[in-house]
Amino acid sequence: MRSNVSLDPTRTGREASQLERDLRRLIVGQEEAIEQIVNMYQMNLTGLNAPGRPIANFLFLGPTGSGKTRIVEATAEALLKNSKSVIKIDCAEFQHSHEIAKLIGSPPGYLGHRETHPLLSQEVLNQHHTDAQKLSFLLFDEIEKSSDALWNLLLGILDKATLTLGDNRKVDFSRCLIFMTSNLGANEMSQLTTSKLGFSSALPATDLTARNNQKLGEKVARTGLEAARRKFTPEFINRLDKIVVFKPLGESELRKIVDLELNQVQQRIFNSSDRPFVFTASDGAKEYLLKEGTDVKYGARHLKRAIERLLVQPMSNLIATDQVRGGDWIKVDIADGRISFNREAEELPVHAMAELVDNSIALPLASLAQAISAEPAKIQTARSSRRS
Ligand SMILES: Nc1ncnc2c1ncn2[C@@H]1O[C@H](COP(=O)(O)OP(=O)(O)O)[C@@H](O)[C@H]1O
Ligand SMILES: [Mg+2]
Repeated sequence: MRSNVSLDPTRTGREASQLERDLRRLIVGQEEAIEQIVNMYQMNLTGLNAPGRPIANFLFLGPTGSGKTRIVEATAEALLKNSKSVIKIDCAEFQHSHEIAKLIGSPPGYLGHRETHPLLSQEVLNQHHTDAQKLSFLLFDEIEKSSDALWNLLLGILDKATLTLGDNRKVDFSRCLIFMTSNLGANEMSQLTTSKLGFSSALPATDLTARNNQKLGEKVARTGLEAARRKFTPEFINRLDKIVVFKPLGESELRKIVDLELNQVQQRIFNSSDRPFVFTASDGAKEYLLKEGTDVKYGARHLKRAIERLLVQPMSNLIATDQVRGGDWIKVDIADGRISFNREAEELPVHAMAELVDNSIALPLASLAQAISAEPAKIQTARSSRRS
């Protein structure tokens, strides 16, 4: 039967859309990177990605602290429910041939053969597979520092999705998403942007500056790509599915990241202690952290460090001295130009603490849901009667 129906190839399926939503919660900006990851995941779900190759080969360029590593962790967090499941290879650590043996093991008969557990064995790759997701996340950081031996190994993996270990066992990478990062061209890129992007975005955005910023963004991307083409061989570039240039983060992005980072600190508190407490931060406190944590060179990394120094360390002193206890609600504010802490309430049940956390950011926390359901029945009843 003939029909004439126009189809929309830009719509994604349910699972890919869910991944996109999760990534948008966890990652600020970097739209193109999100889109490319979602595209490759969608191809994998429908079985249309190239056979005999890894699920995806990505090269991420751009400045330090712009989210290149974080987006890989966030993808793993969204799909495997575990951001720690990314297998990271720091390329600078594998310069010499004996160091390559740490990755692939040494041939039988070599001294120490028995003791080597290659970092890239099939067991290591598969260790985080779940019933729902047979995926592995492999991250090669700072690939411009790779030795020739590592390059050759990498080229084989990217092209054929296989690697032969020292003892001749074969490792299959066809269930891997492979991410490579490089700071290449980052200096040239930041020279383009420091004067123009970044904190100028705090100025009222007129159409003109928006257009200029877009033009500038394109120029930055081009600079990054050119640097990559100069440094990397065509045979490497041709094996990549996508090169994404990450943008330097401006003030409005860093402001959103403050919220994300504070949320992560709260998650740490919920995860690490059986008597968790909750904290909320005033706008003044957040502005202070933003101001202290702003640095063009290190992007959000500097912000993260400022939060550790100004919030997490003092908080751990408060815990160690019993000034903060499980069930407390701590208000973080600013007093005399410094971060201040005030106990607003105590002996709160877990669900009441959970309600104080902004749930629009971050993904639902399994441990928290467990803690709530493990609460004494009395509290549970109180909650359900209050809700009804
Ligand atoms: N775009 C972003 N969205 C959310 N958080 C970010 C972003 N960029 C950086 N961060 C935060 O800063 C930290 C450092 O960023 P990272 O991804 O390691 O930078 P790099 O680009 O150098 O790999 C991350 O762990 C994350 O907490
Ligand atoms: Mg990184």
